[in-house]
Amino acid sequence: MRYVMNKMKMGQKATPQPLLQTHGLRKSYSIGGERVEILRGIDLTVSKGEWLAVRGASGSGKSTFLHLLGGLDRPDQGGVQFAENEIFSLGNRRLNQYRCWSVGFVFQFYHLLPELTALENVLIGAMVGRSIVRWSRERNTVRRRAIDLLDKLGLSHRIHHRSTKLSGGERQRVAIARALINDPLILLTDEPTGNLDTTTGDQLLDLLQQFHQGGLAIIMVTHDERIASVAQRCVVLEDGQLRN
Ligand SMILES: Nc1ncnc2c1ncn2[C@@H]1O[C@H](COP(=O)(O)OP(=O)(O)OP(=O)(O)O)[C@@H](O)[C@H]1O
Ligand SMILES: [Mg+2]
Repeated sequence: MRYVMNKMKMGQKATPQPLLQTHGLRKSYSIGGERVEILRGIDLTVSKGEWLAVRGASGSGKSTFLHLLGGLDRPDQGGVQFAENEIFSLGNRRLNQYRCWSVGFVFQFYHLLPELTALENVLIGAMVGRSIVRWSRERNTVRRRAIDLLDKLGLSHRIHHRSTKLSGGERQRVAIARALINDPLILLTDEPTGNLDTTTGDQLLDLLQQFHQGGLAIIMVTHDERIASVAQRCVVLEDGQLRN
């Protein structure tokens, strides 16, 4: 860190440090008895604090790719390195830690728990990564952070509403708060504006911009060119491969 600071003081540009890397990532599914290759060898490097958009047609494999990055599914071949650790070589405990602490994941269809309120859905994200002892020690602080996040995301008036009573855009924002509750280094978000009107979508992008300015790296899947243009870099998934 001191080295980076010194370089910056000397007026040189610090080399971006890789945060997440993929090597020859391949994934296929059996569809109708036939093996279909969805990802055919993907190499990607995302730096600390970078904002990357991944575009591609419907069915091109964007969600599949994001699930692999989040450690939610396993590739057939190739790997994902986070901070120089190969995540699929980690034991279950450490892989769970990666999912809970290093990345925040926002699913395309949110996957909120219907019986729980907005606040409870966010707190679930914090509970799963903590032991009972740690949870009882930190719950008040975490609760304050959850309320603060929901407030920042414009949901202070919906905190105690069940997720089934929320609109699509409100659910999307609860899912983002849940993904950010453990203060991850990278946010993986699947079509973050997919179900929003233009104004609400733009408000959400402004919020992501604020978190990004705070140092959060973002990988954002979208099929929308306009949304993708907000990111620092955009890649396109086509025929199972990424192109710039
Ligand atoms: N679990 C699965 N089993 C079989 N096939 C799957 C599975 N998950 C995805 N697929 C197939 O893989 C292909 C890519 O799916 P994926 O959801 O990754 O696409 P996408 O780019 O996210 O599409 P969209 O823009 O519509 O969300 C699709 O043809 C889909 O049917
Ligand atoms: Mg998808």
